[in-house]
Amino acid sequence: MANDKLSSAKTAKNDEFYTQYPDIQKEMNALVDYNPNVFRDKCIFLPCDDPEWSNFTKFFAQNFQLLGIRKLISTSYAPESKKYKMPYQPTLFETSKPYFDADKSKTHGKIFILDRDITGDNRIDINDLRWEYLEGDGDFRSKEITQLLKEADIIATNPPFSLFREFIAWLMASGKQFVIIGNMNAVTYKEIFPLIKNNKIWVDNPFVRGAAYFTSPLELNKDLSYFNSHDYREGFIRVPGVRWFTNIELGRRHEPLQLMTMAENIKHSKHKEIRGRKEYIHYENYDAIEVPFTDAIPKDYKGIMGVPKSYLDKYCPEQFEIIGIAEGDSGKELGLKPFPPELKKINPSLRQGQLYYMEDGYPVKPYARLLIRKKE
Ligand SMILES: C[S@@+](CC[C@H](N)C(=O)[O-])C[C@H]1O[C@@H](n2cnc3c(N)ncnc32)[C@H](O)[C@@H]1O
Repeated sequence: MANDKLSSAKTAKNDEFYTQYPDIQKEMNALVDYNPNVFRDKCIFLPCDDPEWSNFTKFFAQNFQLLGIRKLISTSYAPESKKYKMPYQPTLFETSKPYFDADKSKTHGKIFILDRDITGDNRIDINDLRWEYLEGDGDFRSKEITQLLKEADIIATNPPFSLFREFIAWLMASGKQFVIIGNMNAVTYKEIFPLIKNNKIWVDNPFVRGAAYFTSPLELNKDLSYFNSHDYREGFIRVPGVRWFTNIELGRRHEPLQLMTMAENIKHSKHKEIRGRKEYIHYENYDAIEVPFTDAIPKDYKGIMGVPKSYLDKYCPEQFEIIGIAEGDSGKELGLKPFPPELKKINPSLRQGQLYYMEDGYPVKPYARLLIRKKE
């Protein structure tokens, strides 16, 4: 019971991580590098935002003219609908308006729009943002927000982590382009892995060692029961495994990995697990070889290879195709052969439906493997 409470408190807190400006800027610049007109004449929609302090709103409003954006829409979620309850104080930006409504401020979401110069300085920028209360609370699943989705061309946000599956499904149903933040764990979800496998969406990792530093109005970093000592940096929350998920083209995904042949790897690999072996290890219950490091993928192997999930950061669809993932919901579809029950006595962590190989008589279960094959 206590654990349940703690984990739902964590889930609620996880939904309130705010993205830093340089992280947004870096990713949007990568999209613009590939296609300088990616945002030109487009309606950009930022749902699940808190436009008064969101860096998504700030970035797109500040760069509105530079990027040639036609319209920017940003919406927020009502404070009283948020899972994590915190003392609420409307901003001066809101209270200074004649139409400020103390009740609506708590129970309604807000919509911010930027599409023309209203200050009369012949520029369209952050000072031209206008806002009003939404009819509802700003839940992305509501009719009101789904209507805005229909009007938009590109959606950019960091959605609540706890609703990531639903959020992606909502976006995919719209057929729109998007660039959103999520966690690498999501790639194994049965709703998400097929999209990655079929090149409908891809992940991008501009974060140092794949961890993002978010800010939070909750000052979570002071809640030491929730963080490990290495997880906080004054004012920031470190979240590992963070990635951008997008269906917008990026140059990085068309750069093939520079790799060695199998013979070269066995001779020269920097990894002791590979160097000097007679051959790469073969799984016992699936026709594929074990490749424990992305940079040890042999470029001349024609069969299926099990590689770390983090290979997705380097995935180039012209170089390799994705066959499956031996983990979570998606792993079950691979049809791995069952292992003899006596092996479980030697290694109790073995699970049916997951890969294993034998090393010196011991059945080893490798960590989450993605199965790939060289493109002809
Ligand atoms: C991870 S935060 C990111 C905020 C902002 N996009 C950013 O990156 O700085 C997600 C936001 O979505 C809000 N939210 C939670 N559930 C929501 C829902 N069902 N519909 C819309 N927004 C929601 C949270 O309250 C939070 O403000």
